[in-house]
Amino acid sequence: MASPKVVVRVEVLAAASPKAVWRQLSEELVLSDAAHDAIWPARNGPIQRRTAEPGSPPLAEITIDSERRQIRRMSRPVGWAEEIQSEVLISVRPGKQGGSRILLRARGWDRMVESVLGPATDDLLGWAVDQVLAPLSRVATADAIGDWLTDRVARRPQGTRARRIYRSPKAHQPGFQAILKALALTPNDRLLEIGCGGGALLHAALATGCTAIGVDHSPEMIRLSHQQNLKAVGEGRLALVPGQAEALPLPALWVSAVAMATVFFFFPDPLAVLQECRRVLRPGGRLAVFTIPPELRGTPAAPEPMASRGHLYTDQELSDLALAAGFADVTVSRAANGGQLLSARRH
Ligand SMILES: C[S@@+](CC[C@H](N)C(=O)[O-])C[C@H]1O[C@@H](n2cnc3c(N)ncnc32)[C@H](O)[C@@H]1O
Repeated sequence: MASPKVVVRVEVLAAASPKAVWRQLSEELVLSDAAHDAIWPARNGPIQRRTAEPGSPPLAEITIDSERRQIRRMSRPVGWAEEIQSEVLISVRPGKQGGSRILLRARGWDRMVESVLGPATDDLLGWAVDQVLAPLSRVATADAIGDWLTDRVARRPQGTRARRIYRSPKAHQPGFQAILKALALTPNDRLLEIGCGGGALLHAALATGCTAIGVDHSPEMIRLSHQQNLKAVGEGRLALVPGQAEALPLPALWVSAVAMATVFFFFPDPLAVLQECRRVLRPGGRLAVFTIPPELRGTPAAPEPMASRGHLYTDQELSDLALAAGFADVTVSRAANGGQLLSARRH
């Protein structure tokens, strides 16, 4: 094979040992792909597009070599240039001055580009700039990092730290207490919690004898809620469902109470979410939403960069939204930590 005219290599230096980096890399690749609906499974073998027809050729083949700390993904363009293999090799090596180097090398992409566009170096360079350098520089802006941090920490929590925090989020206890008091759950209730995170509020709510459903769009948080409430899941008292607040995966009139803790400010369309809550609530059903008022912006209750990526509502705005969604008996009060509690009822 002629030597390529453009070679893509990416190197990430990390202070941690190769063993620790390999462990985290393997986990994060899978989680990152799950979040972006792509595929880097943590196992060897062929992988299929999620939507593939039965019997269609695999999208790629993964080989994980834990001894050598490297992952190889081979793929072949189906329907064109099928003789060309494209390889992405990610490996963890000791750093030259301690720590580790994560190396990514991509091969075969240049031949695929050439198979369609001919041996023109400007198009090869075009691919490398458009698909490698430009995306990398876009994600390294302060704005993009602020967005990523917001997702990682709160809007779609992911990673070891998020799992540790949401297992028992002490700072959210005042909100949980305010919600539980407002809902006054009994064994006759079926509670829905939207944005259930690690399932701590669900755990406390289930102690009242009610049954519950937790919805969250973070697959990791759904898994954590499950782990934290194994007994209730096993007894059939708790269902955990991945889903979006704006399109709840539940039939109409399904629950008697809805709770949301420290999530409302993230909704781009809060009215649509409240209308969804009304749709799934039975007549007489209760709504309790704990959120953060604008005066707490920049404090530990609503730190940056998360605060400016959410919407902090005044008490008036909150009640107007609930009324516009068709709720009755709307009140907004203060929890022990200065947070807001919106309570309402469906007629
Ligand atoms: C700040 S965390 C709060 C978690 C939990 N309620 C607590 O207080 O510990 C926000 C949670 O809401 C989830 N979330 C955010 N926006 C959502 C949406 N549009 N639909 C479903 N879940 C969402 C996130 O994935 C995250 O688990």
